[in-house]
Amino acid sequence: MDRIRIRGGRRLKGEIPISGAKNSALKLMAAALLTDEPVVLRNVPRLADIAAMSDLLMQFGVNLNIRRGEKLGQGDVVRLHAAHIESAFAPYDIVRKMRASFQVLGPLLARHGEAKISLPGGCAIGARPVDYHLKGFEALGAEIELADGYVLARAKGGLKGTTFELPFASVGATENLMTGAVLANGRTVLKNTAREPETQDLGHFLIAMGAKISGLGTNEIVIDGVEKLSGVEYAVMPDRIETGTYALATAIAGGEVELVGAQVEAIGALIELLEKTGADVKQTNRGVMVHRNGARPRAADVTTSVFPGFPTDLQAQYMALMATAEGSSHIRETVFENRFMHVPELARMGADIHVHGDVATVNGVATLKGAPVMATDLRASVSLVLAGLAAEGETIVNRVYHLDRGFERLEEKLSAVGADIERLST
Ligand code: UD1
Repeated sequence: MDRIRIRGGRRLKGEIPISGAKNSALKLMAAALLTDEPVVLRNVPRLADIAAMSDLLMQFGVNLNIRRGEKLGQGDVVRLHAAHIESAFAPYDIVRKMRASFQVLGPLLARHGEAKISLPGGCAIGARPVDYHLKGFEALGAEIELADGYVLARAKGGLKGTTFELPFASVGATENLMTGAVLANGRTVLKNTAREPETQDLGHFLIAMGAKISGLGTNEIVIDGVEKLSGVEYAVMPDRIETGTYALATAIAGGEVELVGAQVEAIGALIELLEKTGADVKQTNRGVMVHRNGARPRAADVTTSVFPGFPTDLQAQYMALMATAEGSSHIRETVFENRFMHVPELARMGADIHVHGDVATVNGVATLKGAPVMATDLRASVSLVLAGLAAEGETIVNRVYHLDRGFERLEEKLSAVGADIERLST
């Protein structure tokens, strides 16, 4: 199994191209099921999760072709054609590995009138149920049955417009319901909806296919169902979590890096926080420039929340920065339970962190020490890479498959700006 070796202490300088957003691309691919015409997606990142979604869609009868981008950061072009839906069955083996597979439910119900999708089950970062999705589809007129770990959903006469308020502004539930409602009969009003940039990207994509949607980026989305959607060519938005991760990498290692293609408005909460820690962030005409001089980062507290708040997907990476900061900070996680799995691994590198309930208290140390570490999820594993950039000596990150799910060519991007990092294949 591959591992990543990092020798810490190198400052970063240069530029990193930002890839297309995984969390948008996956949903756009699923939404390609909504039309019998071809959909072409540009700027698709090359990631294990994208391959898993491709496999799932091909099982439904989608014809899928990929034209590979050549250069670092140049995305793939994926053509999806769901001329006929041949099956609407998503097996446990696929959904278990990637929770985003559950996002096919909305498009399948809307276009095909039924689907059998495995329940995702628990995962390393908490229970992550899908009850809001299911309640929403019931409100849209679907019959939902749970049997043997599967959801059987039927809407034979089509979904029907309704008003539904989400108990929490869940990203996945908002998006799943949106992709169901676009072909429903009549008007759907979704309240307390997610405002995340990827949710907006999906909305814009659906509008480009002919959907009638208003209120994107707000907490109330109104959708007037249409008879049919058409094919479209669309470029996936840049990945704000990848952007934030490399901004934090620069803050932790020191140096100056331009994140080419990054969207400044998608990382507002992070920029504010980075400035408090002593880093400099500027918009450039190609993206965002991050700079930190030799001084130690300063401690600053943060609470994760829904957009436009500080994203939970950057919490682990920010903790790595705080582990080396001058002073103590509190990091509160409010979106997921159990999202502090990286703490014991950071502690193996000399970090001083104590967790009480949903708050981690981080007492910054002057130097972290390289160590063999192991990660349990995607964002946790990249936080260990970031800690390795700042640590003295050698860090080996095991279970690299987590990184490959969400970070495109991470070691190439970081070594191009001067990090001493390589993949060890065994
Ligand atoms: C998406 C992102 C993930 C990110 C998260 C929050 C993708 C593929 N993943 O995940 O990277 O960390 O948004 O920004 O886009 N919940 C329920 N019942 C439900 C749905 C959610 O209780 O039916 C809870 C979850 O357990 C969690 C919270 O709501 O505690 C937020 O989850 P949600 O916003 O749905 O996250 P995902 O869509 O799974």
